[in-house]
Amino acid sequence: MSRPKNDTFLRALLKEPTEYTPLWLMRQAGRYLPEYCETRKRAGDFLKLCKSPALACEVTLQPLARYDLDAAILFSDILTVPDAMGLGLYFAEGEGPRFERPLREEWAINNLSAPDSYEHLGYVMDAVGEIRRALDNSVPLIGFSGSPYTLACYMVEGQGSSDFRHIKGMLYNRPDLLHRILSVTADAVTSYLNAQIDSGAQAVMIFDTWGGSLSHAAYREFSLAYMQRIVAGLQKEKDGQRIPCIVFTKNGGLWLEQIAAIGCDAVGLDWTVDIGEARRRVGDQVALQGNLDPNVLFAAPEIVAAEARKVLDSFGPGNTGHVFNLGHGISQFTPPESVTALVEAVHGHSRLLRK
Ligand code: CP3
Repeated sequence: MSRPKNDTFLRALLKEPTEYTPLWLMRQAGRYLPEYCETRKRAGDFLKLCKSPALACEVTLQPLARYDLDAAILFSDILTVPDAMGLGLYFAEGEGPRFERPLREEWAINNLSAPDSYEHLGYVMDAVGEIRRALDNSVPLIGFSGSPYTLACYMVEGQGSSDFRHIKGMLYNRPDLLHRILSVTADAVTSYLNAQIDSGAQAVMIFDTWGGSLSHAAYREFSLAYMQRIVAGLQKEKDGQRIPCIVFTKNGGLWLEQIAAIGCDAVGLDWTVDIGEARRRVGDQVALQGNLDPNVLFAAPEIVAAEARKVLDSFGPGNTGHVFNLGHGISQFTPPESVTALVEAVHGHSRLLRK
């Protein structure tokens, strides 16, 4: 299999030269797009959308039809993995994700096992295959998973949380129980990402949304160590092409050197760090992905363009090693026109910087 016609994203991750800085946006297929809302309505609800390969494929392609983006990301959710582990995922309308059976009892934790990715998450693999066929080698497809710690946050809390008191209580009281959850989940994520790669994902990303809520010591022990184990277990090549891996810890700015050292190809940055400073800290070890504040997209188009140029200027000279993105997912309230201004600014200004 050859690389996609537009392989700028893969080349930037592998630190090969590119003519401009590629970009995609976290949550690029989402509620800010009216066509997404229309398809979601047709599906009935968000989970049905995730579980229908044809509809997941349809919404994956929607942002690419509107904007000149350099990668597609599988439409799914990180919580499909704990759902496949039997926790009973549902979305209470307007309230975010919930589990019917949060994981708190020792017996339940001892009974936890990694699901078979093809048997229990076959709909995701089918979506990956269908999206690859629909993309027809135009741009690469990114597969993804949550980090074990981030998944455990939802599994133990049973829903989103502002204080994480259940999981942190467990972390300090019964670290053995939390390690057991993280270990089983790390095995599940490794096989899940490898199945996505086997089904056609051309790069993978690990979303560690809540690792940044941990203490300095706990981050290494309860989040980073398990991501390191996953990265070590990933299939590195498919059909002769390297499959790059991106690791993103939101609020992980204090630990960039440590993240860069776990064997990933790229580190995702949220908007709280200066990307030029981040580049000096990680050196040549990895590429960087990020890191515009998603709320910039609420400003006027010329401000959006100016703020995007600031990120590119801060990254500095060179013709590779940067994938432009937001520092976190795009808000559902974003005006779609802001994204047009962003894409033009990133492609246009980064071409000028290479002259
Ligand atoms: O980036 C993409 O376009 C791919 C799709 C994707 C979704 N969720 C779709 C989604 C990805 C990569 C995710 C990851 C995800 N899901 C994370 C990690 C990244 C992050 O945002 O921090 C987390 C923590 C989740 C869990 C989750 N899923 C939450 C907390 C919510 C509710 C938040 C909200 O915006 O309502 C979801 C739902 C969800 N996942 C939506 C989308 C498009 C909105 C659902 C809808 O259409 O109602």
